[in-house]
Amino acid sequence: MNLMVIGGGGREHAIIKKLRENPDVESIYALPGNGGMAKDAECVNIGAKDIPAIVEFAKTHPVDFAVVAPDNPLVLGCVDELQKLGIPCFGPEAKAAIIEGSKAFSKDLMKQYGIPTAKYETFTEMDKALQYLDTQSAPIVVKADGLALGKGVIIAETIDDAKQAVQDMMAGGKFGKSGECVVIEEFLTGPEVSVLAFTDGNVVKPMVSSMDHKRALDGDKGLNTGGMGTVAPNPYYTDEVAQRCMEEIFLPTIRAMNAENRTFRGCLYFGLMITPDGPKVIEYNCRFGDPETQVVLPLLESDLLTIMQATANGTLADVDVKFRDEHACCVVVASEGYPLKYDKGFPMTLPETGADTEIYIAGAKLDDAGTLLTNGGRVLGAVARAETLEGAIEKAYDLAAKVQFENAYYRKDIGQRALAAKA
Ligand code: AMP
Ligand code: GLY
Repeated sequence: MNLMVIGGGGREHAIIKKLRENPDVESIYALPGNGGMAKDAECVNIGAKDIPAIVEFAKTHPVDFAVVAPDNPLVLGCVDELQKLGIPCFGPEAKAAIIEGSKAFSKDLMKQYGIPTAKYETFTEMDKALQYLDTQSAPIVVKADGLALGKGVIIAETIDDAKQAVQDMMAGGKFGKSGECVVIEEFLTGPEVSVLAFTDGNVVKPMVSSMDHKRALDGDKGLNTGGMGTVAPNPYYTDEVAQRCMEEIFLPTIRAMNAENRTFRGCLYFGLMITPDGPKVIEYNCRFGDPETQVVLPLLESDLLTIMQATANGTLADVDVKFRDEHACCVVVASEGYPLKYDKGFPMTLPETGADTEIYIAGAKLDDAGTLLTNGGRVLGAVARAETLEGAIEKAYDLAAKVQFENAYYRKDIGQRALAAKA
């Protein structure tokens, strides 16, 4: 089989390596991929948001199955367009991807179908949003409605800060169209858990849970990033919590999407907070998370392509989704200065990986001489699995320490919160 994977980060590298384990896979095109995955896929210089070019490529190349990984092409209807060509796809159609594409939509869905989430109000007029804030107390959360690269969420410590955030989004155009509508919601507390789940619209099969580390600096300080590291499973996701999530959140969400005629097929990401009142949804994503995928897929025992095909054709109930009874840790090695200003273009030296370690490349390119150069903020994920969480953390850090490029930076405390929670 010939596959096409849309996207070009660490998540896509993890997906591609896992898909390669299936002996039926002959070739994989990555659009655009990146220089660091050139050994695992044929990288094609077409951007993930360029739907017409993706469609043209798919028309002129043998593609038996497509995986659309990032949020933007999903929300823009990439799956819809590829399906029109008769190409089966992993990923939701645009009408279902809206669950991530519009926070106003997802909040209204949860309210209507009684799915636990933070209380909220939605505003399209700035004056009304500012007036509403006068009636609220801090801390309070302000969110841009649309996609904002994970940066559209402001946790305001004071009402004045919240008003500033509303003005930045609605008048300042800070997030473009994404900020024309804002959601203002109650501040929740409790540990966060990420659960990625396969669904074909009939059944939902959750993957092993994980814990992201979103802040740039040790001790969860500094700016929010796309994610600086992950561990799986997440110790806060006990069997009891998992059961509640299935009954109160996962199944009701799938049913709600069906009832709205927006059947979701693909990977639905539940960003959860385990509050004193039980698990609540912080956000939905219509795709695999990154770097969550980099710890979840190495623990997957079952065949990824078989599962992905089953989500596309509605037979997920018949397919095994089994995970190893092990732990995994991903340490993101970034360019110093990320998520703000950083230099790139430095040659990289990578360590060898073994049976239980992986390097997933996110931001790299090959120069004309074939040297791999850094080319992004998050450069790679150093990933290891082991029988214990301690073991996985230690091995991932051993691997990260052997990665060399000039301005390499990584957090030193990935997994420490999880370890403390287990103790
Ligand atoms: P998001 O981009 O929606 O994942 O939000 C980024 C982060 O903001 C989340 O991972 C949470 O840590 C935090 N956050 C979002 N909404 C809330 C909320 N209602 N209460 C507390 N923290 C929140
Ligand atoms: N790591 C969070 C996300 O993928 O949105």
